[in-house]
This record gives sequence, C-alpha cells and structure tokens, in this order.
Amino acid sequence: MAEKIAIYLDHNAGAPLLPRISQKLTENQGEYLLRSYGNSSSLHAQGRWLSRELLLSRQWIAKSWGPQVRPDQVHFAASGSDANLQVVTRAFARAKNRGLQSPEWILTGLEHDSVIRLTHLWQSWGGRVRSVAVSPQGQVLSDSVVDALCDETALFSLIWVHNETGVLTDFGLPFWTHLKEKKIWIHLDGAQAWGKMKLDLHETPADGVTFSGYKIGALQGSGAYWLRDPSEWDDRSISSVQSGERVPGAGAHANFSFLPAVSLGIAAQECVEKSWGSDEDTRTMRALRDEWESELVSQISGVKIWCQDQPRICNTSLVQFSGVHRSELLMQLDLRGIQASSGAACRSGIETGSRALQCMGSGVAASRGLLRVSLGRNTTKAELEYLTQQLLEILPRLRSASSPPVGDPMGLHSAQNLPKIRG
Ligand SMILES: Cc1ncc(COP(=O)(O)O)c(C=O)c1O
Repeated sequence: MAEKIAIYLDHNAGAPLLPRISQKLTENQGEYLLRSYGNSSSLHAQGRWLSRELLLSRQWIAKSWGPQVRPDQVHFAASGSDANLQVVTRAFARAKNRGLQSPEWILTGLEHDSVIRLTHLWQSWGGRVRSVAVSPQGQVLSDSVVDALCDETALFSLIWVHNETGVLTDFGLPFWTHLKEKKIWIHLDGAQAWGKMKLDLHETPADGVTFSGYKIGALQGSGAYWLRDPSEWDDRSISSVQSGERVPGAGAHANFSFLPAVSLGIAAQECVEKSWGSDEDTRTMRALRDEWESELVSQISGVKIWCQDQPRICNTSLVQFSGVHRSELLMQLDLRGIQASSGAACRSGIETGSRALQCMGSGVAASRGLLRVSLGRNTTKAELEYLTQQLLEILPRLRSASSPPVGDPMGLHSAQNLPKIRG
C-alpha cells in the first residue's frame, strides 16, 4: 500500500500529479495508455493520431502562456533542465550564425544548477561566460549586467522566479531595450513561474522561456520551452554546435516522450480553466504564506525570512533558524510527516551551503538551518499551524544539541562569496 503523505510542502521541487491526468491514463483499463505507441512522425493513422494529440497539448500550453502565444512556438522537452539545454544551445548557434567568434553568455550565480552546468558546455564550444553580481536581497543588478556587456555578448539568462527564495525579477523597459538593441538573446527560466503567476510571454522581452512540467502537476519527464521566433532556428546549424553531434530535441527525433508531453497539455488546460496564476487564484496562497511567516517570527526566536521585502512568488518561503543544521531539521520534520526542503531540492541533505545565498553575499554558514516551504493549492492553514507547532518542539532540542559559530550564528557577516565562472 502506498505510504500516506501527511503534509507536503515541497511544491517547488515537484507538485503531485493532477488527478485528471491519472484519470485519463487509467480510465477504461488504460485505453489511452495502450493506444500511445508508435511514432508521431509516421504518416499512417496511428502516427496521425499521436500527432493530433500532441498538437492539442501544444494548443493548451500556448493558451496558458498568454493570449498571443501560438502552438508552433511551443516545444516539448524532457524536463526543465532539458528545456534550458535546448534554448541555450540555440542561442549559441544563433551567435555563431551572426559571426561572433567567442560568444559571451552573461548570467548570475542565482541561476538553477541545470543552467550553471551548461556554462561548461558553452565554454567547451568556444564561448565565454561571465557571472555578474547580485544584490544581498537576491535581485540581479541591472547595472552589473549593463557594465558587463561587450561586442561578443550573445545571451543573457535570468531565473524569472527563484526556486529557493521565490524572488521575482523584472527590469524596466529601458534595460531590455538596451539588450535588444545589442541583439542579445534573452532567456528566462520560468520553471517556478508557470501556474503561480499570470503569464503573457509575448509581453516579456524574452526570446526563449523554459518550463518544467512536474512543477505544475504533469508527469515527471515533461518540460517545454517557448521560442519567440521558431523560424529563426535551423536544426543543421544547431547540430554543428556540438561538432556534428545531434542536439537532443533538435530535428525529427525529439527527445521528449509522448505521455509526459500529453500530460503537460492536460496540466495547461487545468491552468487555463481554473485561471491559475491570476490575482484571484494566488491571493489565498499568498495570504496563507504571509500569515504563517508572521506567526512564525512572533512565536520562535532566531528566525529570518529571506527576501521577505522583495517581490516574491505567492507560495515560497525560505526560512532560516539559528543554531541548527538543516539536514537534522528536515529529518525531524520528516519523522513528523512534514515534507519540505532546504533551499534547492536537489541540494537537500547536502551541507554544502546554498549557492544562491552565497551569491547574495551571505557566506556558506548562512545556509545553516535553512528550510524552504513551498505551498501548493491544497495546502491548508491547519497544516501550516501543525508545522509551527512541530518547529516549536523540535528547535529547542536541536539547538541545545548543536553548537553554532559564536558571534555569527547565521553567518550573515561572512565575506561576499560570488561564484567565479570567469575571473
Ligand atoms: C528555476 C528552475 N529551473 C530549472 C529547473 C529544472 O527543472 P527539472 O527538474 O524539470 O529539470 C528547476 C527545478 O527545480 C528550477 O527550479
């Protein structure tokens, strides 16, 4: 029998599968599942059926990304990480087509690991990477980006909503216009934005926006990206970027799978039909999160809410408790049926420190006692009250057992420690 999940507060890592997806796949003894064989490029009836289903999925995804988005701008990927790979690869190919010798990519250490990892690939293709400073409040500094621009700058990547802090970044029109005038390609990582805020991709400055499917309740192994101008892309030039190797997802043999792609369309349909991300939709979650944060601060000492005064997405709270180790805290909560994470999900359990906080100048020690709580649509006030109750019990015991560094319990005064990608 499946283990009962008591309280799930890790939606930024992955949301539970939407019931209408499991229903579609299992109804009539799995009729849909049994029918999903073959290749959508085949011309016969089965191939055409697969292709029609994928088009339907693209149409819903397009609708959920904004009124002007067209289905031909929607591309499936195997995950959010894969979507990032696809978009960054295309940006490099475009830069080479423009005749840039050593295209430069500007980003910050706030980016998700899946983007940071691509910097090695970019460099292996002959490009250069420049990491620019961010503010202590977790915002990318537009002046630092502008100062870093050079004739070879080809790409600027921005994590639209931060997975750990929930900080939402936007710059004014003059900044984006400046980048556009310099023909710099703009990549937004929207993995944490879909379903939690109103999207209208045509109104963004982006040329490519990337998304992860299972953050909005689709199957694992789903992702998608939007390209403003799909006609700009020539698969042959993309292939040549990787010295003749075919880039996954480019060309006829795409690397996405049929069922995850269809599930993404169903999730997008739910998003459209229930107006996910609208002010009305997010108001409740935001109020719940804000109320929980102020209760926490009033009841427990040595608590810091990261980036509380910044524009933040409605469901995310990055909390820090002085004098405890984050993995011990997570384990104790897990034993009490509460599932959360400490910063980036993929880093949970590893005491290496949060790269995001380090970038914000807070040093490795600032990652002690970090707890990321990310709410979902079904999260209730009672669940959050239970969490506070459990913290009230757990923290004194953990604090007396651990010995934080004297005088700087949260490591807030450590030297700025920006990741050095290029010196
Ligand atoms: C901001 C951001 N970008 C990209 C990803 C990668 O998505 P995926 O897990 O689907 O590869 C994540 C995953 O948490 C994320 O939070």
